[in-house]
Parts: sequence; structure tokens; C-alpha cells
Amino acid sequence: MDIYHAVTSDVKDIYDLIQIYAEKGIVLPRTYLSLYQHLQCLYVMKQDNNILGVAGLHVLGPDLAEIQSLVVSPDYAGKGIGRSLVKRIISDAPKLGISRVMSFTYETEFFKKCGFKIVEKETLPEKVWVDCMNCPKFNCCDEVAMIRYVG
Ligand SMILES: CC(C)(COP(=O)(O)OP(=O)(O)OC[C@H]1O[C@@H](n2cnc3c(N)ncnc32)[C@H](O)[C@@H]1OP(=O)(O)O)[C@@H](O)C(=O)NCCC(=O)NCCS
Repeated sequence: MDIYHAVTSDVKDIYDLIQIYAEKGIVLPRTYLSLYQHLQCLYVMKQDNNILGVAGLHVLGPDLAEIQSLVVSPDYAGKGIGRSLVKRIISDAPKLGISRVMSFTYETEFFKKCGFKIVEKETLPEKVWVDCMNCPKFNCCDEVAMIRYVG
């Protein structure tokens, strides 16, 4: 089992895995186009060419990036795949000039175990003004903002 940068032939499986959770409203849905456009930001955990987990790192500003589309196959939950993907992102982020990695999430306990702390959403204007402004849940957002300093 290893983590790789995603390639075009991974996109269908990435899409299907994200859809499992997007249909339940747990993560935001992604289009095929969005996955191709952001392919360089995506990591996949693979075993025997099967994708068991996905995570994306999206740069939002000079020192800030967001973990997006972090999903682990339900059959492989609880085996450390999510933590390994986050660890890889935390390790690679400083190479891009990033010193803060954030997530808007329902999975606060998981992210605490990965070294993240809860912060007020207002401390992350780069996220709020780019994405949240266009979100239907803008006035009733129930996700928790979490951040980890890296590097
Ligand atoms: C959240 C998610 C990525 C976790 O991945 P995972 O591979 O199952 O998690 P790991 O096995 O790496 O867990 C790491 C630690 O977090 C804990 N943990 C994981 N999910 C947890 C949860 N829902 N509640 C409490 N603790 C949790 C694990 O018990 C483990 O703790 P330990 O160090 O004491 O052993 C996965 O459950 C998932 O895909 N969820 C649906 C999509 C989602 O919510 N993504 C996050 C969007 S921001």
C-alpha cells in the first residue's frame, strides 16, 4: 500500500470514491472536469492498483492550503489510510511555501489525531471569501474549521 500523485487513469475511481460520501452530504461533490483540472493536487493511496483513499491539497494563498476531498474507501476505514494521506500532505505542503494547512470538516476527532486545532472560521478569510460566499450553507454552516501549522 503506497501513496502516489494521481494520474489521469485514476480519475474514474477517484470520482466514484468521492461520490460515495458526496451523496451523503459528507464531502462536496467533484466533477470529472474539476478532478482533471486539479489532478496535480491529488494524492491516492493504492494497493494492487486499487484506490483505497484520496486527498487533495488546494493552495488558497501565499501560506495557506486546504485539504479537500479526503475520502477513504468504507471497506478500509480505520486502518490508518486517512492519517497517512494527511501526513503526506503535511510533509509536502512546506515545499510549496505553505505554512498552514486547514480543513472545513465534520471529522474533528480524526483531524485532532492528525495534529489539527479548531479555529474560528473568521480567521481563514482566504477560504470564507473564496468558497463560502457561494455556498448555499453560508448562513448555516455546520462544518468546523481546523488548522495545523506545518514546516
Ligand atoms: C475521516 C476519514 C478520512 C478517516 O480515515 P481513516 O483511514 O478511517 O482514519 P484513520 O484510520 O487514519 O484514523 C486515524 C485516527 O483517527 C481516528 N478516527 C478516524 N475517524 C474517526 C471518527 N469518525 N471519530 C473519531 N475518531 C476517528 C482513528 O480511530 C485513529 O485514531 P488512533 O490514532 O487512536 O488509532 C474517513 O473515515 C472518511 O473517508 N470519512 C468520510 C469522508 C470524510 O468525512 N472526509 C473528511 C472530509 S474533511
